[in-house]
Amino acid sequence: MNPRRALVTGGAGFLGSHLCDALLANGYAVVAVDNLLTGRLANIEHLRNDSRFEFIQRDACESHLRGSVDYVFHFASPASPVDYAAHGIETLKAGSYGTFEALETSRRCGASFMMASTSECYGDPLVHPQTESYWGHVNPIGPRSVYDEAKRFAEAVTMAYHRYHKVDTRILRIFNTYGPRMQINDGRVIPNFMCQALRGENLTVYGDGSQTRSFCYVSDEIEGIMRLARRSEHLPVNIGNPTEFTILECARHVLAITGSTSRIQFEPLPQDDPKQRCPDISKARQLLGWEPKVDLESGLRLSLEYFRTAVQEERTRAV
Ligand SMILES: NC(=O)c1ccc[n+]([C@@H]2O[C@H](COP(=O)([O-])OP(=O)(O)OC[C@H]3O[C@@H](n4cnc5c(N)ncnc54)[C@H](O)[C@@H]3O)[C@@H](O)[C@H]2O)c1
Repeated sequence: MNPRRALVTGGAGFLGSHLCDALLANGYAVVAVDNLLTGRLANIEHLRNDSRFEFIQRDACESHLRGSVDYVFHFASPASPVDYAAHGIETLKAGSYGTFEALETSRRCGASFMMASTSECYGDPLVHPQTESYWGHVNPIGPRSVYDEAKRFAEAVTMAYHRYHKVDTRILRIFNTYGPRMQINDGRVIPNFMCQALRGENLTVYGDGSQTRSFCYVSDEIEGIMRLARRSEHLPVNIGNPTEFTILECARHVLAITGSTSRIQFEPLPQDDPKQRCPDISKARQLLGWEPKVDLESGLRLSLEYFRTAVQEERTRAV
């Protein structure tokens, strides 16, 4: 019997590549579609000789593939504030045309579907921690709207395909996830701090650093994704780590783990930067029996070698 086949859009990205690994480990054949806008071939280099893995360099807004698949994971989208600021229109297209295309593939193949949504759907939330029933507080025309509204639209399209076309859909609301294979210069908190610390630069904290974030280590996130994939839950599910840290606390953890003597430098807060972000994961706990296992300190230690190597490579390229 042929193995079940999964399509992962954004499969050469940080999360997409870890998801490909997990699917292969679970017996799937995997097709990754990625236009390498923010992803890297290096993330899937280790899969090159695996006969069950196929990579197609293509825009997810275009028709994906001819053969059939059993599962579609739509992860293609710029994800970091630096990336979606640089690629605003592409971000809107990945959330709109890309989601339509991925859902059409699911519909044509009778495949299950999951879209990677985000805590950004909650905007600068007025409810804390954020439950899936909270509709969010989003500025529809602010600089972050290219991402937030693309994802909110993608959720709406996903629900519509479920309601009108009976596609077996899932909406995964990912909260800040970090770990090996992240881009080192994408402006997200952990790679920023880790790389600044390892380069001996000051750690940039925006505002007074009292804004909070919760950080989920990638292995926990992927475990949550795999569990959700097996359940027929069509309404959104938060997957993230509910332990909150202030940005300042996070910076201090990074300094301790890297052993860096860098200092903390304060800069003005960017527009619409959320002050608090923390998932309520009661639904994931109840539905999936899932909760994160890796605390921030352990996750930073597990990521240290990757960031150290990445910073060294960056140094080598510069000379
Ligand atoms: N990492 C997080 O903390 C986080 C949080 C919330 C949501 N997400 C979502 O998870 C998904 C993956 O994010 P990530 O952190 O791995 O980011 P990433 O930038 O590493 O991965 C995104 C991938 O999508 C690809 N891509 C972008 N536009 C594309 C297009 N039009 N066609 C084909 N490929 C395209 C990129 O080249 C990249 O490989 C995204 O949808 C993101 O919105 C991530």
